[in-house]
Amino acid sequence: MNLPQHIAVIMDGNGRWAKKRLMPRMMGHRKGSENLKKLINDCDRLGLEHITFYAFSTENWKRSQEEVKNLMDLLREYLNDHIKNEKDNNFKIDFIGDMSRLDEDIREKMIIVRQLYSTHKGIFVHIAMNYGSRDEIRRAVVDIANEIKSGELEPDDITEELISQHLDTKNYPDPELLIRTSGEMRLSNFLMWQLAYSEFYFSDKLWPDFRVDDLIEAVNEYNSRDRRFGGRNEVN
Ligand code: FPP
Repeated sequence: MNLPQHIAVIMDGNGRWAKKRLMPRMMGHRKGSENLKKLINDCDRLGLEHITFYAFSTENWKRSQEEVKNLMDLLREYLNDHIKNEKDNNFKIDFIGDMSRLDEDIREKMIIVRQLYSTHKGIFVHIAMNYGSRDEIRRAVVDIANEIKSGELEPDDITEELISQHLDTKNYPDPELLIRTSGEMRLSNFLMWQLAYSEFYFSDKLWPDFRVDDLIEAVNEYNSRDRRFGGRNEVN
């Protein structure tokens, strides 16, 4: 199997998973979080280099106060678990998005986890928290504007490469494949710059039910596609 270097995943359908079982939405998120942990280890065994998961968007603050609190508590638990079980995990991990709106204890735990896992040799996991593509591009524009103001840059220095270098994803390649679960076919403000040439794959599985075999199916579909990057394939 020809693996992409980087896969991006929109984990959707936790609420519907819970609703189908007459459970509170939170149970869906909890199952989703357990699935995330399992899938990361399975992807590490597959030999994938990078994977980015959309865990909380800049729009998710509009959900009920209770759901936002539950999701933040789940993130705390997730981070604590990573601190406690560091020795059992082989992957590297970091976070993209605007951390400034997250509670201080969460930000501290993120820094600890990133640091603890930085010497690991396995797959590099990127978790998007309070992430929105438009907000990421806005933050990049502010940074570039400040560099122009201070004389470090000229407007003519602004290339696509320079913009990429000001995004949260600056240190790793763009995803070749995007997977979204639960049958929804939207980008929802996720990695819009980085996904410009990526293949999209939509699975009907709800996120808590999405397994590594489903991811392999997505990769096989990706391998069967004809990627032309706006050019032409010689045989056609
Ligand atoms: C979408 O399902 C999922 C989310 C908004 C949250 C994703 C979070 C997790 C998978 C677990 C938490 C992970 C961490 C790192 C804390 P939805 O609620 O929109 O589902 P629905 O469309 O069926 O209602």
